[in-house]
Amino acid sequence: MEHSKTLLLVGGTSDIGRATALHYAQAGWQVQLAARNEEDARRNADDIRSRTGAEVTVHRIDILETGAFESFVDTLSTLPDTVVCVVGELGDQARGQSDISHASLVLRTNFEGPALLLGLLAERFLARGSGTLVGVSSVAGDRGRGSNYLYGAAKAGFTAFLSGLRNRLAPKGLRVVTVKPGFVRTQMTAGMKLPPVLTAEPCEVGRAIFTAAEKSGRDVIYVRPIWRPVMMVIGTIPERFFKRLRL
Ligand SMILES: NC(=O)c1ccc[n+]([C@@H]2O[C@H](COP(=O)([O-])OP(=O)(O)OC[C@H]3O[C@@H](n4cnc5c(N)ncnc54)[C@H](OP(=O)(O)O)[C@@H]3O)[C@@H](O)[C@H]2O)c1
Repeated sequence: MEHSKTLLLVGGTSDIGRATALHYAQAGWQVQLAARNEEDARRNADDIRSRTGAEVTVHRIDILETGAFESFVDTLSTLPDTVVCVVGELGDQARGQSDISHASLVLRTNFEGPALLLGLLAERFLARGSGTLVGVSSVAGDRGRGSNYLYGAAKAGFTAFLSGLRNRLAPKGLRVVTVKPGFVRTQMTAGMKLPPVLTAEPCEVGRAIFTAAEKSGRDVIYVRPIWRPVMMVIGTIPERFFKRLRL
């Protein structure tokens, strides 16, 4: 019998993270749930364990504490087969325009922390000769908009980081997957009016991540395919018109 594989899910308290971990557990994977809030992560771990019977462990990580990443990875009992990082912070664009510490929080949570952690795990996977790295980025990174360019710029940086990492690791047989969920009904978007056709449920995102990372071999996914043409059209609008749109 093939040995059970291990998923490291970073952001184990998020709706998308919980749904993704559940999907992997249902497929027979062991799960390491990492989060800054261990109590909430433990609740999710108990839920996943009781629904699937999978082995689920809980680990503490704060994505802003980059100096602790080495010891975080060293204390995992097993180097995972796949890591999925869903950590993110939408933040408040208006506040970030005048509050540098808030702007820094958004940039570091969406870019610096996830990129450095996946970069570190990539080196461990390279040394072992196998592993899949998945980063949850955003369509907001495809083109900067006035209403959320701090978040968008950080996600753009993360998308570029994942692209470069994939380019470097592909010849060595390691996979890097970029996920652009589009709108998703989660705590992050609670209270927002979202167009149903463009809005996925967390379980759809979990399924799409599992399929791309473990089955289809796709490198960059938009969870709802309609987002690909939408973003293609948005990308082709000339800057002289785009700058006048209130987006
Ligand atoms: N919802 C959407 O429409 C949408 C669209 C595109 C992309 N995304 C991306 O999808 C990912 C998951 O988001 P979500 O919608 O599931 O929202 P969410 O429930 O708010 O998840 C955000 C996660 O990031 C964690 N986090 C924030 N700062 C952290 C830190 N310093 N250290 C460790 N963890 C930290 C949160 O932990 P706590 O529970 O401790 O706060 C939470 O687990 C994010 O990267 C988001 O940018 C979401």
